[in-house]
Amino acid sequence: MKIFIDSADVKEIRELASWGIIDGVTTNPSLVAKTGREITECVTEICQIVDGPISVEVISTDAVGMVKEAEEWAKVNPKNITIKIPMCIEGLKAVKILTENEIKTNVTLIFSPNQALLAAKAGATFISPFVGRLDDISHFGMEIVNDVVQIYNNYGFATEIIVASVRNPLHVVEAARMGAHISTVPFGVLKQMVGHPLTDAGIKKFFDDYQKIPKK
Ligand code: E4P
Repeated sequence: MKIFIDSADVKEIRELASWGIIDGVTTNPSLVAKTGREITECVTEICQIVDGPISVEVISTDAVGMVKEAEEWAKVNPKNITIKIPMCIEGLKAVKILTENEIKTNVTLIFSPNQALLAAKAGATFISPFVGRLDDISHFGMEIVNDVVQIYNNYGFATEIIVASVRNPLHVVEAARMGAHISTVPFGVLKQMVGHPLTDAGIKKFFDDYQKIPKK
């Protein structure tokens, strides 16, 4: 499974890139706002750090506006910029046009298997089911991932599933078990995924025992 970082913070992205595990980045307007930076400057720097899909979201509400925004973004890095399009009828129209123009898309704010089916039919490169936000309203977010994996496999859709709105390490484990293509994970959760108390205790014991070995 590929791992993306869900962040617009270049410090976090740079750190994760040094771990050798990052395959791409997802941003959204809320994440960019948190950095306090100008958006084009921020996304351009991210593209310099990571050679993989970098999602950036459009804010237009009509297909023509979405396509125009997407074409501007694509100039920043034609290979890696991926346009996050909100799931709606205008969004589907925009995905169709962008797919024909070979611009990558990530249909975002997916909360049902039918939305995922329609996005794939329109030609989306990626779709992002938001599992944490579903959990927040007492729906099992991972259920939709399971359904969409099955639906895409049944019909051989090339659209890749990005498990998004990840809130804890178990979301990532479940995503991998279900066969989702990608999880986009906040930096804090990535750090939680590294740790285990038995690993920490083991490292300490080996270090302490090493001190007891007679030295020449
Ligand atoms: C995904 O692409 C989104 O940026 C993100 O996962 C949303 O997560 P949230 O529900 O924690 O805001």
